[in-house]
Amino acid sequence: MRKPLVAANWKMHGSDQFLETYFPALEQAIDSDKVEVVIFPPAVYLQKAAGLCQQLQAGAQDVSQHSEGAFTGEVSATMVSDVGCRYVLVGHSERRIRHRESSKTVAEKFLAAVGQGLVPVLCVGESLEEREANRTLAVVQSQIQSVIDLAGLEQLTNAVIAYEPVWAIGTGKTASPEQAQEVHRAIRDMLGPAGQHTRIVYGGSVKAENAMTLFNQPDIDGGLVGGASLKVDEFAAICGSV
Ligand code: PGA
Repeated sequence: MRKPLVAANWKMHGSDQFLETYFPALEQAIDSDKVEVVIFPPAVYLQKAAGLCQQLQAGAQDVSQHSEGAFTGEVSATMVSDVGCRYVLVGHSERRIRHRESSKTVAEKFLAAVGQGLVPVLCVGESLEEREANRTLAVVQSQIQSVIDLAGLEQLTNAVIAYEPVWAIGTGKTASPEQAQEVHRAIRDMLGPAGQHTRIVYGGSVKAENAMTLFNQPDIDGGLVGGASLKVDEFAAICGSV
């Protein structure tokens, strides 16, 4: 059985004060026997977030592919683990597109994370143009293959995969449950038999009102939530819909 996972990607939102109200409120609202809940705050808040976690988990939104050195502004996997975090997002489309991270760089970050015992949440997904050109599965396959080539299939099947169609992120346009299920199923098939235990979560305009129909699909094991994760009541409702 795959334990559902619901994650909050705060992106560049939040404050010290926000953490102090959000974490206790969410702790009250969730049942970690039923769902694993991970919060991804900005890096400066990771240590504090980890300290506030009881049932919750904290994770980093990004990690350097390098272990240490002259990389101004970057945070290593050792540091993320050092402050008490277990999870890390790699390959979010905002990093791939706005920070020009290639699939090779993403795979290197994935490898750096597993090397320190972190669990990467590998984000994959197609642009609108790619979907319209019928290239969704080819794009996702190639993003996944880059990680398999560098880190190996076993490491990937032990990680978490987030399918996030770029056209659905922050746009209010959600993939239909059927559209998402089709891609999740294809991703699971790409992983072979070991993929049966891999959690594949959906991201892209998940809200309280659409979470349940998405999470009801057989190959959707939870969600990665951006905008709606900033409202603690709504996010708690999303966690409750698994
Ligand atoms: P969204 O973001 O829920 O605001 O669409 C999801 C994400 O970027 O992970």
